[in-house]
Amino acid sequence: MAEDLKTEIKGMILQVKDLPTLPAVLDEVTKLVESPDSSGEDIAKAIARDQVLSAKVLKMVNSPIYGFPGRIGSIQHALVLLGFNVIRGIIISTSVFDYMTATMKGLWEHSLGCATACGALARQLKLKDPEEYSVGGLLHDLGKVVAAVQLPDILKDIETMVKEKDILYLEAEKQVMGFGHDRINAWLAGHWRLPPNIKEGMAKHHNPESADLYPQMAAVIHVGDFLVRVFEYGSSGDDQLPTLSKKALSVLKVTMADLEATMDFLSEQFMEISDLDLS
Ligand SMILES: [Fe+2]
Ligand SMILES: [Fe+2]
Repeated sequence: MAEDLKTEIKGMILQVKDLPTLPAVLDEVTKLVESPDSSGEDIAKAIARDQVLSAKVLKMVNSPIYGFPGRIGSIQHALVLLGFNVIRGIIISTSVFDYMTATMKGLWEHSLGCATACGALARQLKLKDPEEYSVGGLLHDLGKVVAAVQLPDILKDIETMVKEKDILYLEAEKQVMGFGHDRINAWLAGHWRLPPNIKEGMAKHHNPESADLYPQMAAVIHVGDFLVRVFEYGSSGDDQLPTLSKKALSVLKVTMADLEATMDFLSEQFMEISDLDLS
C-alpha cells in the first residue's frame, strides 16, 4: 500500500476531535497525580464528584477480574488497592464502552474476558501488580474500536475480508489500512498518556517477541487473548485461532500443562463476569 494513503488513513483515525472523549475529570485527576501537594484523598474526591463515572468504576473494580470481588466500597479504597494507573485504564474503558458495544458485537466481552485471563495468569505467575496486567488486557483491542468509530466503511471492508479470504482480523486490517490495531493502540496509549508497560502490552500483544521493555506484559496479554479465544468468550472479530507464540510461553516460563490449570480456573470466572454490564 502506498505510504501517502497509509498516512492519510492514520490521520483520519487520529482525528482527535472525533476520538471518544474521556471524562473531564480525568484531566483534573492527572494534574492532581502529577502535583506533589495533592493526596490520594484529593484524587478520590475529584473522581467521586462524577457520580455516574464513579458508579461504573466501582462496578468494575468489584468484579472478580481484579481480585477483590465485592470488597471495594469507595473510590479512595479502589485507588489504594489498585493504584492510579489501573483506575485510569478503567475510566478509559468505561468511556469507550458505548462505542464498543455499538460498533463491534462481542468485543466488550472479549476485552473483559482477556482482562480476566491476564489477571489470573499474572497472579498464577506471581507477577508484581497483577491488576496492571488485567487493565492491559481490558484495553488491548481498543484500536479496533477507534478505527471502527472513525472509519465505519473500513470496518465493513475488514470484516468482509476476514470472511472471504479466511484470514485473521489483524491481517485484514493490514491489507485494508496498511497497519493493524496494535499500531493504533500505540498512538492511543500515547494520546491518553497510559503508562509505558500498558502501552507496550497494547502495542505488542500480537508479536510479543518484539517487546523489549516490558516483555512479560506483552506475553501475558498475548496468552490471555489466546485463552479467551479458546473459550470463545465474546468475539475479537476473528473466526480462527491465531498461533500461540512460543517465545511468550518461554518469557513467562509456562507450559501448556500450566495453562490448562489456568483454563479450569477461568471457566468459572467467565461465568461470574458474564453479567458485568456498564450501560
Ligand atoms: Fe488484538
Ligand atoms: Fe484480542
